[in-house]
Amino acid sequence: MELQAVEKSYARWAPVYDRTFGAVTNVGRRRATAILSELGGSVLEVGVGTGLALPLYGPRVTVTGVDYSAEMLEKARAKAAREALRNVVSLRRMDARELDFPDESFDHVACMHVISVVPEPERVMAEIARVVRPGARW
Ligand SMILES: C[S@@+](CC[C@H](N)C(=O)[O-])C[C@H]1O[C@@H](n2cnc3c(N)ncnc32)[C@H](O)[C@@H]1O
Repeated sequence: MELQAVEKSYARWAPVYDRTFGAVTNVGRRRATAILSELGGSVLEVGVGTGLALPLYGPRVTVTGVDYSAEMLEKARAKAAREALRNVVSLRRMDARELDFPDESFDHVACMHVISVVPEPERVMAEIARVVRPGARW
């Protein structure tokens, strides 16, 4: 998908995402967040979407989320506020191909149901490799 198509498509998905695609994919989200929560440390969630995974992280991790869709991010921000998720440190609009973080900023990365929809997935993977510390789990 091109970035404009991502923007347009997820503006339409945002209002119904949690009750449709989001609902049927929750098993994987639970497993991934359980693994990272056990490890602890700082997690970057790339393509955080409506923030469905945010309430699933344990207290030993801090979470920074990024997404390109303003509408999906708005849902994530509302969820974090409504559920008073104190370990969510920031939710920022960002193109995952150009992550605005210094090298080796995070202990681990979560990137769920994203690589198949981003433009230039290899660039996203290279950016993830750049911003995580050696030994990170993705
Ligand atoms: C299928 S949703 C997955 C959302 C969330 N990870 C989940 O598991 O529910 C894909 C997300 O990737 C985001 N996305 C696609 N391309 C992106 C890019 N280049 N940069 C940042 N986010 C992007 C979309 O806006 C959308 O929120």
